[in-house]
Amino acid sequence: MTNIFAETERSSQKLSKQRSFSTNLFSPKLSVYLLAVCVILFTLFQMQALKTPFSPPSPSLSFLEKWEKVVHTSLSLNCSQELRSMIAKLRDSVTFLPLKDLRYSETAMQGHTWFMSSLYDTQEEGEVQYQYFPSEASKGRLLCILGRDKHDGARNSYALAWPEALPENATLFKGLTFVSYNHYDYDNIWHGLSAMMPFVGWHRRMGCVVPTRWVLYHWGELRSNISPWLSNLMEATFGEPLNIELFDGVDGPACFEEAAVMRHNEGGMSRQRRLEVYDLLRCKARMFCNVSLEGRSSDVDEKGAPIIGMTLFMRTGARSFRNESVVIDIFKRECLKVEGCRLRVAYSNNLSFCDQVRLMGSTDILVSPHGAQLTNMFLMDTNSSVMEFFPKGWLKLAGVGQYVYQWIASWAGMRHEGAWRDPNGDACPYPEDDRRCFNIYKGGQIGYNDTYFSKWASDVLKQVKLSKVELQQVSKDATMKEQLKSSGCSCN
Ligand SMILES: *[C@@H]1O[C@H](CO)[C@@H](O)[C@H](O)[C@H]1NC(C)=O
Ligand SMILES: *[C@@H]1O[C@H](CO)[C@@H](O)[C@H](O)[C@H]1NC(C)=O
Ligand SMILES: *[C@@H]1O[C@H](CO)[C@@H](O)[C@H](O)[C@H]1NC(C)=O
Ligand SMILES: *[C@@H]1O[C@H](CO)[C@@H](O)[C@H](O)[C@H]1NC(C)=O
Ligand SMILES: *[C@@H]1O[C@H](CO)[C@@H](O)[C@H](O)[C@H]1NC(C)=O
Ligand SMILES: *[C@@H]1O[C@H](CO)[C@@H](O)[C@H](O)[C@H]1NC(C)=O
Ligand SMILES: *[C@@H]1O[C@H](CO)[C@@H](O)[C@H](O)[C@H]1NC(C)=O
Repeated sequence: MTNIFAETERSSQKLSKQRSFSTNLFSPKLSVYLLAVCVILFTLFQMQALKTPFSPPSPSLSFLEKWEKVVHTSLSLNCSQELRSMIAKLRDSVTFLPLKDLRYSETAMQGHTWFMSSLYDTQEEGEVQYQYFPSEASKGRLLCILGRDKHDGARNSYALAWPEALPENATLFKGLTFVSYNHYDYDNIWHGLSAMMPFVGWHRRMGCVVPTRWVLYHWGELRSNISPWLSNLMEATFGEPLNIELFDGVDGPACFEEAAVMRHNEGGMSRQRRLEVYDLLRCKARMFCNVSLEGRSSDVDEKGAPIIGMTLFMRTGARSFRNESVVIDIFKRECLKVEGCRLRVAYSNNLSFCDQVRLMGSTDILVSPHGAQLTNMFLMDTNSSVMEFFPKGWLKLAGVGQYVYQWIASWAGMRHEGAWRDPNGDACPYPEDDRRCFNIYKGGQIGYNDTYFSKWASDVLKQVKLSKVELQQVSKDATMKEQLKSSGCSCN
């Protein structure tokens, strides 16, 4: 089924060329002509009908009257008939294709993905890749979705339809709808944020436009939940709680007055655009949580020297430190050696969203194991530092996914100060580079190396201290301070 439908959609492009040369009644050109003739005749008739009672009879009018009679009786009757039948044909020709196209299951994340595979994105240099309906690209058609299945994306489907000829039993959803595709899940804050990023970019670019609703898909399956952290961040950004559409009580297709579809995360966005989006998220989150927008430059001790916030952001369970107290002691020791350094230890598992925003707002150096909690880094001031830790086995076996926090550091304007990889860990019964070992290493704990940690912490502290003093010189200039404060929250 899947293949046949998708092929039909594809070959229809080729066919439409041939059709316009034949006198096929269903040719789009011919129907446009017919409609145009109908409209012109109808308009003429209306004008004439208006004129008649007010103007005196004249010889030329009698001809017009006769002609009009002919037109009226033979054509205009048939015009409305013709219109109705054309609309019925348009309505019936709306073709639904599966949201998840199994032909692309091997390359689900490449090209135009297996989600809405027959449609192409609009790509502009340095901007998010998106689809917008209705648009020139959709020839004025709206996006319609028959997609309530939560378990099988191939059972959900989509189609394009003209607003005058929506499919049978369709419900029109007014306003702007954001349709999101996420290859991973919305509960993981890193993957969830990646899927939301392009919408924030779009929102920023379109003068802070706010959607009426969101429709969330994963592998073509409808999703209703996102992590509370993400939900809060989006509420802060868009100024209202997210309205996630579940199509409860909607039987037929849902057609959207306006819809923006994003399925490539940050793909296509230039570094500058990404920085702007993270600036916006940071600024909005701080406003939402009543955290000062002034940032770290205002945090000084009694003598006016800059405070350096160093935060150990701990995990519990998988990828936690095996011996926390030793690790804390090492960083405490190094922190005490630097004037103005304040060490804090926090756990990601029991902090509310605003707790995390506040914590990051007073952090210059984030010390944390590899894990989703590191997504919070963009909430620090730009140019802040991140130190990351991995358990044994990740370098060889974890794939490119292990570098995501280096990427976000670069996209959000943070300094990734490198990673420490534990050479020791749980034993694996297979050879060390056997993929099966990763199941053991994935949830492993992280040890420590006193010598390495001390030197690393000391180096990072020195460099941060230096740049904070420098920044303090610059931001003595009041206008610079104003700039730091006001930048970020506005849209284009
Ligand atoms: C409308 O067109 C049909 C042919 O499609 C014709 O048979 C019929 O007579 C026309 N009706 C009028 C009122 O002219
Ligand atoms: C439209 O709804 C009616 C009544 O619920 C139903 O009988 C009919 O089959 C539906 N049509 C389609 C195309 O689903
Ligand atoms: C922020 O401050 C406003 C007004 O003082 C208050 O209504 C709101 O609850 C505060 N929000 C948080 C997250 O503390
Ligand atoms: C952590 O390491 C210290 C120093 O080696 C040791 O005294 C302590 O027992 C260890 N704690 C745990 C929970 O292993
Ligand atoms: C947060 O969780 C950590 C680790 O489970 C625990 O040690 C700490 O006491 C908790 N803090 C609060 C305030 O509940
Ligand atoms: C961040 O660092 C870069 C390069 O060191 C500097 O040009 C920029 O002004 C800094 N930005 C802020 C907000 O401090
Ligand atoms: C700890 O780190 C130091 C410095 O990088 C290194 O020379 C040493 O071999 C490491 N110790 C262990 C036990 O891995």
